[in-house]
Amino acid sequence: MDNTDIISKTITFVKGQLENAEGGHDWFHIERVYKNALLIAKEEVCNLQVVQLSALLHDIADSKFHNGDETIGPKIARQFLESEKVPDAIINHVVLIIENISFKGGNFDKKFHSAELDVVQDADRLDAIGAIGIARAFNYGGFKNRALYDPEIAPNTNMTIDEYKNSQAPTLNHFYEKLLLLKDKMNTSTGKKIAKERHRFMENFLAQFYAEWEGEK
Ligand code: ADP
Ligand code: NI
Repeated sequence: MDNTDIISKTITFVKGQLENAEGGHDWFHIERVYKNALLIAKEEVCNLQVVQLSALLHDIADSKFHNGDETIGPKIARQFLESEKVPDAIINHVVLIIENISFKGGNFDKKFHSAELDVVQDADRLDAIGAIGIARAFNYGGFKNRALYDPEIAPNTNMTIDEYKNSQAPTLNHFYEKLLLLKDKMNTSTGKKIAKERHRFMENFLAQFYAEWEGEK
């Protein structure tokens, strides 16, 4: 099977897997990350098939919705790729990327490194910032029944992953705990450039938000 066939089969598979996914991790998130990844990959030396498969398969089973089980997504991805007879070296690389891409809470460490991981991680991070990032944060906060903002509750950038997951902090805190930190965590030059613009957009949003909160505008 040539790569175009494998990619289109993967797209069909992922769409099926994400049929009932919540708004922040639905097929449209995957589609945006896939497009970001292709754009970033153009300027990098990397294996395009690995980038494509990892972007498509990186969120097929979010641990937040599987009792914190981080191993389900990589397992399902491996089974699918094996059933499609994708070469082992490619499968192993894609699975490593899926295992290492996430920046749960304030956890920015990664144990595995590759040019392809750098590309897909940047693509995923770009979807967490800017206008879409703002929309996703409030969507997630709503899903968790969190307040929009509370001037009495300060952001906390030192939470453990579990504390972070269970935190009832208002959604605006998430900007300081994660979203505004992403610009300086980007791996690739294209990723950095786009992140800079999206970061500025979030800063403008926050300034406007506080002004409106105070009844100034
Ligand atoms: P990923 O799955 O890409 O590793 P997450 O699952 O942590 O990232 O986040 C998915 C989306 O939900 C992102 O847009 C993120 O900003 C948002 N999100 C995650 N945690 C929070 C939170 N505590 N408050 C608001 N939004 C959140
Ligand atoms: Ni993602």
